[in-house]
Amino acid sequence: MRKPLIAGNWKMNFVTSEAVEFTKALVSNKFNDDVEKLICVPSVHLSELSKLLKGTDIKLGAQNMYFEESGAFTGEVSPTMLQDLKVDYVIIGHSERREIFKEDDEMINKKVISALAHSITPILCCGETLEEREKGVQEEKVKTQLIEDFKGISAEDAAKVVIAYEPIWAIGTGKTASTEDALQMIVFIRKMISELYNSETAESIRILYGGSVKPDNIREFMETGEIDGGLVGGASLKADSFAALVNY
Ligand code: 13P
Repeated sequence: MRKPLIAGNWKMNFVTSEAVEFTKALVSNKFNDDVEKLICVPSVHLSELSKLLKGTDIKLGAQNMYFEESGAFTGEVSPTMLQDLKVDYVIIGHSERREIFKEDDEMINKKVISALAHSITPILCCGETLEEREKGVQEEKVKTQLIEDFKGISAEDAAKVVIAYEPIWAIGTGKTASTEDALQMIVFIRKMISELYNSETAESIRILYGGSVKPDNIREFMETGEIDGGLVGGASLKADSFAALVNY
């Protein structure tokens, strides 16, 4: 049984006082126990929020990390630093990192391997641009990304990864993929994992949808039984909205 996961991606939002206030409001909510809850926050907040979330069932995630443990990598955060702060998850290869910061699949693959080696669960993002969707090449695009990003990863480790399918045209645009479109891609991704590994791995890996997920559309995605949760940007930035997403 795959446990549903609702993951908030705060992106580059909230100064420390806001992050603390938000998290305090969040932990006071009554949540559905059957759903795993996660907030992925800017690195500067990890230390403070790690203390606040201790003993709660809300997990803590980072939005990025470098693959090396230490050294001359100005501006980067290492897996050992995240491990030290009891970070459970790390988003890898978000389309904003791929597009704005020019991360390629080779680097993303190294990051996924490094996160797994440090017992941090990677949330590996994939998805097509609007242009690729209009050309009808979304499956090819995601297939190429996943083949590259899973290179050298064993079936046992692959099953621990969370995949987030995030069509770029649906991110922050208010334009959600239809349930049918999201479902079709997620079924395709699971089939791909089955081909890359085996059916057992495909059945245990969790695949989320991301892109303008809101309290009023999350239920439809979850009711498909194939979509294992959401990676949520905008709608995760209010405590009551995040709680409504979890309690879909
Ligand atoms: P929005 O929910 O704001 O569209 O962002 C989606 C996203 O990029 C989550 O990682």
